[in-house]
Amino acid sequence: MMMARKQDGRTPTYNVSVVGLSGTEKEKGQCGVGKSCLCNRFVRPGADDFHLEHTSVLSTSDFGGRVVNNDHFLYWGEVARPLEECAECRVHVVEQTEFIDDQTFQPHRSTALQPYIKRAAATKLASAEKLMYFCTDQLGLEQDFEQKQMPDGKLPVDGFLLCVDVSRGMNRNFDEQLKFVSNLYNQLAKTKKPVVVVLTKCDEGVERYIRDAHAFALGKKNLQVVETSARSNVNVELAFGTLVQLLDKSRGKAKIIPYFEALKQQSQQIAAAKDRYEWLVSRVVKSHHEVWPDVSRRMRSAPEYQDYVYLEGTQKAKKLFLQHAQRLKQEHVERRRRAYLALLPQALDALVPDLDEIDRLSRAKAEKLLEAKPDFLKWFVVLEETPWDATDHVDDADNERIPFDLLETPAAEQLYEAHLEKLRAERKRAEMRRAFLENLESSPFVTPGKPWEEARSFIMNEDFYLWLDESVYVDIYGKHQKRLIDKAKEDFQELLLEYSELFYELELDAKPSKEKMGVIQEVLGEEQRFKALQKLQAERDALVLKHIHFVYHPTKETCPGCGACVDARVEQLLASRFARPAQRRGDADADRINLVILGKDGLARELANEIRALCADDDKYVIEGKVYELALRPIEGNVRLPVNAFQTPTFQPHGCLCLYNSKESLSYVVESVEKSRESAAGRRDGHAAPQLPLALVLVNKRGGGEGGGETLQSLIQQGQRIAGKLQCVFLDPASAGAAWRGHF
Ligand code: GTP
Ligand code: MG
Repeated sequence: MMMARKQDGRTPTYNVSVVGLSGTEKEKGQCGVGKSCLCNRFVRPGADDFHLEHTSVLSTSDFGGRVVNNDHFLYWGEVARPLEECAECRVHVVEQTEFIDDQTFQPHRSTALQPYIKRAAATKLASAEKLMYFCTDQLGLEQDFEQKQMPDGKLPVDGFLLCVDVSRGMNRNFDEQLKFVSNLYNQLAKTKKPVVVVLTKCDEGVERYIRDAHAFALGKKNLQVVETSARSNVNVELAFGTLVQLLDKSRGKAKIIPYFEALKQQSQQIAAAKDRYEWLVSRVVKSHHEVWPDVSRRMRSAPEYQDYVYLEGTQKAKKLFLQHAQRLKQEHVERRRRAYLALLPQALDALVPDLDEIDRLSRAKAEKLLEAKPDFLKWFVVLEETPWDATDHVDDADNERIPFDLLETPAAEQLYEAHLEKLRAERKRAEMRRAFLENLESSPFVTPGKPWEEARSFIMNEDFYLWLDESVYVDIYGKHQKRLIDKAKEDFQELLLEYSELFYELELDAKPSKEKMGVIQEVLGEEQRFKALQKLQAERDALVLKHIHFVYHPTKETCPGCGACVDARVEQLLASRFARPAQRRGDADADRINLVILGKDGLARELANEIRALCADDDKYVIEGKVYELALRPIEGNVRLPVNAFQTPTFQPHGCLCLYNSKESLSYVVESVEKSRESAAGRRDGHAAPQLPLALVLVNKRGGGEGGGETLQSLIQQGQRIAGKLQCVFLDPASAGAAWRGHF
């Protein structure tokens, strides 16, 4: 059993020699079998300290330097960490190689020039002040690296790792290598030192080579094989650990793990470390402006950072940081882009709200138009450099205006199209609303009071449904119905006025009987204006009752004319102006004068208005210094109708002005006066009624001239004749003025 050297009295120390095919290109092919990489990974396993290239072709001066020290072996240094499940130990590592002269491409000459196989099996190595090797760059620059000497300038070898490259290799025959390995093994066996076969480069391993290598080892007694990859950092520790366990049998037997299983474990470890490191980066790095020197300094003490850098190296750690920063930047840009795009519809609404202006414009022309708008710079910014997301504009937090070149992007183009579409749809909707209303107006099915549910199937076509919401139709329909109903009620009111005879015989202050209402309905029922309110019977009945009430109590409050009620108007005017002539009868009523003005086709109303215009405030009329209250009752229609009666319960006329401006209007006056006299006579039950003072007045014809040859002269003559017949005063336009006034 090999005894561990106890250098410090406690920690066992082992010296391991790593051997395998080496020599000129002719012997080993274009690259070595992986001894150096295996040593490197074991001694300095951190990814940053691992180098894949360890050239063996050296200049004479490098060969003579203190690292190589004219030897054909390298001292890789010592490992002082627990190996696998072992207790603490130290392991010194040397690599047996063959250094080639870069001039002659032959092995460098050295003091002990033996064939490799012989030399590699050496168990006593000596080299005064030989320095520990790090990497190729160290050669010639030894002072830049830690200078650690091989202890005591000598190293007794305790065991061997025999490397077999199972990759395809370059210009190398595997069987030749295996032959070489077999010979080498025989030499090693002679030393009686433990040997472990190490399959290198298993990440590129060829199945047959692996099989053959195993078969070779199986042929030897107690020869264990460990499948490794220095590059992927798989099973390297296990290779050395297995040898150490052979060196110190007190330790448990190493569990040999096949390459792919170990690789899986290693990959999982890397993936987990990567996750943890990315989590750390996302926690530490919140802005895309961060730079690696700062960030790495801040993360240096974090285990997540250390673990990942150990396994994958600083470069990969930096790369992940840069990817994260890039992601942050993309997210930032994306946020800005979304904000700009969200603003774009508002900008378009503000700058080009008119479809006619942009409907048929090319994109380029539309952009020109936008730029020409006075408010353009409120919404947009034109950058010197584009695209905006590759410039400093992305970090200009204060500038919320939309970079104009964004308009060229597909998303913005879509929004522009959507703006156009929106305007077109709005126009179309307006057209549809108009068409719908026209449809309503021309449809014979839409009658007053018809509910929407009944009307819709007649007036809705598919086009309407496509463009407008139901609520819009309901709204338009509702308004239209209101107009229809108002009009129908007005017409019905007119109808009631025309049928005044129906209401003559009702009892005063009594609600009409059912029978009477039946009669009224029957008579009116033939009329279209009655039928129009078919669906609004309750309202129609209410209008009838209201009308009856008005006929028997014709006050301005019940008047269907509402605000336009002449009584109300007259009252209003008289309340503020007009005066009366001198007291005529000396009764209590003396300061008030009620005057009927009779005249067809607006004559009466016109004169009434003119008189009112002469009135002072509160319908006070001043004559010869005396103030009178004047009430005017213009009558233009059939005086048999209660609305046109000379006399009402609230109006007792004191006199009447009869106006005419044509033969026709003169006949109306004559007829009306006669009718009025007749009914006054009837009402007073045969009692002689005092004649109402009358004055016949010829007023100027409006528009003059027309009227079938009625000259002014003939009108005056006719007037004079009629005045005689009616026994009243006649006034022609020329004599207008005080004459009529004296008559009352
Ligand atoms: P000499 O000392 O010159 O005899 O060579 P060596 O046995 O030390 O070989 P070295 O470690 O220098 O490796 C030679 C080449 O093999 C390297 O440059 C790498 O490209 C490659 N190599 C080493 N280890 C691995 C590995 O684990 N996987 C793969 N795929 N390639 C490796
Ligand atoms: Mg080497």
